[in-house]
Amino acid sequence: MQIFLDTANLAEIREVASWGVLAGVTTNPSLIAREGGDFLETIHEICEIVKGPVSAETVAPDVEGMLREGRLLATVHPHVVVKVPLTEAGIATTRRLADEGIRVNVTLCFQASQALLAGLAGAAYISPFVGRLDDVSWDGTDLIRQIVGVYANSATIHTKVLAASIRHPLHLVDAALAGADVATAPYKVLKACIRHPLTDSGNAQFLADWAKVPERDISLLVEKWRAKRRS
Ligand code: G3P
Repeated sequence: MQIFLDTANLAEIREVASWGVLAGVTTNPSLIAREGGDFLETIHEICEIVKGPVSAETVAPDVEGMLREGRLLATVHPHVVVKVPLTEAGIATTRRLADEGIRVNVTLCFQASQALLAGLAGAAYISPFVGRLDDVSWDGTDLIRQIVGVYANSATIHTKVLAASIRHPLHLVDAALAGADVATAPYKVLKACIRHPLTDSGNAQFLADWAKVPERDISLLVEKWRAKRRS
């Protein structure tokens, strides 16, 4: 499973990109509005940092508007993936843009039947919202499993399952176990994926024990060891 970052915050993207595990970024109108700034400059800068798929969402209510916005967004950078909501207009737009070779991420997916139609329309990605289903006591991970199963039974659907609305590290693990191709998580969730109190305490103990070693500068130790082997 690949990891995308769900944010429009450039500092967060630069930090996670420096870890060497970031495969893409997803944005949406709320995330863009939260950061402010120039929408298209932000999308272009994200594409330059990540060098992977970057979702930029249309906001028009109808097919003609979504098509116009999607075609223009696709010109901003080769890495742009056009995002549309899972509505009738979104499905129709997905079909038209996919036929033009423009990748589409169909978002706000909450049931497998929606994902089936998005896949048949040629979506590059489907974004089931795991966290928002869990928020209302539905099993968001079960939706991932259903979509993976529906797509696996189709010879014509090549849509990638992009688990979204990730609330905590277990959502990432569950999405991976359920067969999602990608999970897009907020910065704070990816940071939480790394941190564990036992890791921190264990590392502190290693360093405390090492501090008792008389010669403990590893760089110097290696240089002295090499010099001794050469002599
Ligand atoms: O990409 C979709 C994601 O941003 C939605 O997350 O936390 O608003 O449900 P959330």
